[in-house]
Amino acid sequence: MVRILITGSNGQVGSEIIEYLRKTTDCTILATDITQPREQVEGVQFEYMDVKERVLVESVFRKFKPEHVYHLAAILSATGEKDPVITHNVNTTGTMNILSACVTHGVQKAFIPSTIGVYGPEIQKENAPLENYSTPTTMYGITKATSEMLFKYYHARFDLDVRSVRYPGLISYKVEPTAGTTDFSVDMIKHAALGKKYICYLKSDTRLPMMYMPDAMINTIKMMYQEKVEKRIYNFMAYSISPGEIESIIKERIPDFHVEYVPDYRQAIADSWPASINIEDSVNDWGFDCTYDAKKTVDDMLDHYASSI
Ligand SMILES: NC(=O)c1ccc[n+]([C@@H]2O[C@H](COP(=O)([O-])OP(=O)(O)OC[C@H]3O[C@@H](n4cnc5c(N)ncnc54)[C@H](O)[C@@H]3O)[C@@H](O)[C@H]2O)c1
Repeated sequence: MVRILITGSNGQVGSEIIEYLRKTTDCTILATDITQPREQVEGVQFEYMDVKERVLVESVFRKFKPEHVYHLAAILSATGEKDPVITHNVNTTGTMNILSACVTHGVQKAFIPSTIGVYGPEIQKENAPLENYSTPTTMYGITKATSEMLFKYYHARFDLDVRSVRYPGLISYKVEPTAGTTDFSVDMIKHAALGKKYICYLKSDTRLPMMYMPDAMINTIKMMYQEKVEKRIYNFMAYSISPGEIESIIKERIPDFHVEYVPDYRQAIADSWPASINIEDSVNDWGFDCTYDAKKTVDDMLDHYASSI
């Protein structure tokens, strides 16, 4: 049984990855976060762990002796712009603490996700390349680009098998996102299911890379369980889509759904990111593949809300 430690376990990705790891892996999981879990999951222990606190991180690693680590604790893009200092401390110092503990405690494999936020406005808008040097202009992007450099350093210097993917906007219903720039996708679909009007904080034609959570989970685990990977980081994206295009798909099922577009500070964040990113290396190196296109994603989300609201 592999011993897996997860940071930021109560978040949108953490709560899904726990479920997916339990289904697919013979494992013992220690979930950690600074908030209490919403539910007790059988076979999953929980410990409070603030990734900013190095002494605490060391003691949790010493006690649990993880073999694999999924480091998901982070401050996301929209919150990042509100509090740059805390964002730096969690995303950069927190990542250093985790990398350092991984080396000290002989962790075999670590997953540290990155984001399309590492790209800046200078990058080509379409099919942004994996390897190009990034010039992010948001605090989230700056800290995540720094994390990418830090984990590459830990791989080169200490031979730590650390792997990463740049997630696009992730669409899911289990834990709703609350802190990112792509959250409108989930909010809009939920408002439509509830029969409510939606006020969107981005312009209707702002296209961004996205994917549905089940595809994100399948591909994350597939990449993590390759014996070897050519690269430390891979791009993930299923489709490039705008709020207006999601609205049109929803209207095929709910014709009287209404969206008003009132862009706020998140428009500047979205404008600094590419509309689509290059996933060729993910496809060629280990067979990245998605089942859900945008229409299937919206349909599945609407079906879920219809049966649960
Ligand atoms: N969700 C997305 O669309 C998306 C897109 C790109 C990248 N990512 C990346 O995936 C990872 C997980 O993101 P998510 O969507 O689950 O985020 P989230 O905001 O839903 O969850 C983050 C979790 O981290 C916890 N946390 C915050 N500060 C902490 C601290 N100091 N110590 C320990 N835990 C702390 C929070 O309580 C929360 O449960 C992040 O690295 C994020 O950058 C997510």
